[in-house]
Amino acid sequence: MKKIATSAVTLAAVGAMLLAGCAGTSERGGGDQTTAGPSGGSSSDTTALTQCLTDAAATVDASASGGAASEITPSTGFEAGAQIGVSLPQKTSQNWVEAEGMFNDQLTAAGYQPIVQFATNGVPDQQNQITAMVTQGVKVLIVGAVDGSQLGGQLDQAKAAGITVIAYDRLLMNTESVDMYVAYDNYKVGQLQGQAVINGMLETQGQPPYNVELIAGSPDDANSKPFFEGAMSVIQPGIDCGAIKVLSGQTTQQQVATQGWLASNAQKRMDTILGANYTDAKLNGILSPNDTLARAAIAALDSAGKADEKTVISGQDSETASIPLIMKGTQYMTIYKDTNGLVKEIVKIVNLLQQGQPVPINDTTSYDNGVKVVPTDLLTPQVVTADNATTVYANDATRQPCTQDPAPASCNQ
Ligand code: BGC
Repeated sequence: MKKIATSAVTLAAVGAMLLAGCAGTSERGGGDQTTAGPSGGSSSDTTALTQCLTDAAATVDASASGGAASEITPSTGFEAGAQIGVSLPQKTSQNWVEAEGMFNDQLTAAGYQPIVQFATNGVPDQQNQITAMVTQGVKVLIVGAVDGSQLGGQLDQAKAAGITVIAYDRLLMNTESVDMYVAYDNYKVGQLQGQAVINGMLETQGQPPYNVELIAGSPDDANSKPFFEGAMSVIQPGIDCGAIKVLSGQTTQQQVATQGWLASNAQKRMDTILGANYTDAKLNGILSPNDTLARAAIAALDSAGKADEKTVISGQDSETASIPLIMKGTQYMTIYKDTNGLVKEIVKIVNLLQQGQPVPINDTTSYDNGVKVVPTDLLTPQVVTADNATTVYANDATRQPCTQDPAPASCNQ
């Protein structure tokens, strides 16, 4: 879906690694890091593997998201105080729960009448809710899809009624009937996760090679692909040069997917993998696409008696239940995608649409939904570790207290 420039950089880095001799180590066995240092590897091998990982991690550009500035004018304007529809998916992570109150508050404060609903029972629920919002006469429809490829008919109804359709956080797939996409940069989220897992292992797990297992999000969520592909753009070179081993052998998005983003599904899969592959070997890292699934992986490690291996685990969403784990080092990192900021951005856009004004976008190339490239307004995600959490959350009244030791009980939700 994305980022020719980044891939070129990655390819260049892989080329450099091949020249540095990383490829020659790819058949080496081992990876059990119970004691520091590679099993049977010479120190020059270790140096090459470390270099390979350092180079891979260095390919990630942490600068602001978005490309060339442009604008679109999808609306000729509508009455102040109009109804605005917001259709959200299931409450699979804290960000969706927080979005409900923020949309209600901010849209009301801007003078609109918000209709905010969750598709608790999945795709048919969301289809019915969108149809009802169209009938009720909303002027803008903001959709965080359960499955972005299953709403074509309802979105066509919305377009036929002159409604502006905005894909929120998750892209709407295979439809002409979407005007724009507003989200944190999903591919970059994945890259930052992959980079952090590598850096975390280099910091805390002794010398490579490292054993890593991979987890991806729900296959029906369009975000799962850019998250996974972004992460693998950093991790795959490590696998290719032999610095990272995946003992389960499960490395495709399909193999590592978590249906419905459900913690129980990820935990079950990790239980099986740990039992089959890691009774003797140490698991150095786990790529997890979000905090809910990171905590599921931590639960699996705990029940396998591996809590003291200090496995490096990634996450996303800055969930309050994960922040204390990050401060303690049980979860290595998360991503901050401030929901308040994303909702604020949407309300700013709704105001422009209401006045029939042009709406600024900053990406006109990356998000092809299968039938068109959707004009996109990308926001920049931020990495959070124990080192910068208090600074990153300084202005977030919900999260800041969770960085304290002990964290208030309210964090553990
Ligand atoms: C969101 C993530 C979230 C996941 C599960 C994704 O579409 O971008 O922030 O963790 O859904 O709810």
